[in-house]
Amino acid sequence: MTLQLRVYVPPHPLIKHWLAVARDAATPSVLFRSAMTELGRWLTYEAARDWLPTLETTVESPLDFCPATLVDPQMPVAVVPILRAGLGLLEGAQTLLPLASIYHYGLVRDEETLQPQCYLNKLPEKFDSQTRVLITDPMLATGGSIMSAMAELTQRGVDPTLARIVCVVAAPPALQKLSAAYPGLIVYTAAIDEKVNDRGFIVPGLGDAGDRIFGT
Ligand code: PRP
Repeated sequence: MTLQLRVYVPPHPLIKHWLAVARDAATPSVLFRSAMTELGRWLTYEAARDWLPTLETTVESPLDFCPATLVDPQMPVAVVPILRAGLGLLEGAQTLLPLASIYHYGLVRDEETLQPQCYLNKLPEKFDSQTRVLITDPMLATGGSIMSAMAELTQRGVDPTLARIVCVVAAPPALQKLSAAYPGLIVYTAAIDEKVNDRGFIVPGLGDAGDRIFGT
C-alpha cells in the first residue's frame, strides 16, 4: 500500500463554531483563548480515535465480569506544542491525554525571510520508537515551522506514521511540503484555507494566533 499524507477536517458543529469564533477579527483575546482550548480539545478527540493505544482486559461490574478496553498507561504518548501559539491548543489536548509527556518546542518566524528560528528545544534526545506524538500548532502556513518540528522529531526516533498534527487552519504550501516528506503522516485541522499571502499569513486564516492568544 502506498502511504499518503491524510488531512482530516472533522465535520463537527463544535469545531465549526469555535473556528468561526477564532476567525472573527472582533473576537477579544479572552474568547480567542477559549476557542483555541475548545479546538484543541475536539480536534484531539478526533485524532485520538485510531491512535491512542488501548489494552483489552476484564473488569468486574457490581453484577458480573465483563470484557473492557482501557487506555494503555504503559505506551508512551507525547504532546509537542510549537510555541507560542501551539500552547493555545495544549490545554484542550491535555485534558484528553492527561498521562502524556509535554515537550515544548519554541519557534519564531523571521518577519523578513519567514524562516523559523528555534529558541527553545525541550525534546528528549531519543524517543521510544513506539511513542505516539501529537503536535499542536494552530497555523500551518508556508510550512517552515512544522517541517522544522517534524525534522527534529524524526531525528530523535519518532515514527511519522505514529505522529498526528492538530492545527486550526492549514494552507496548501505547508500541506504540500508535509506530503512530500512524510507520506504516512495524519493532520487534523478545522479548515484548509486557500492561500498564504506575501507576508506569510494564511488567507482568510485567523490573523496572528500567537498575538491573539496572548494579547500582544
Ligand atoms: C506562527 C504559527 C506557526 C507558524 C506558521 O508562529 O503559530 O507556528 O507561524 O508559519 P509557517 O508555516 O510559515 O512556518 P509565529 O512564528 O508567528 O510565532 P508565535 O507562535 O510565537 O506567534
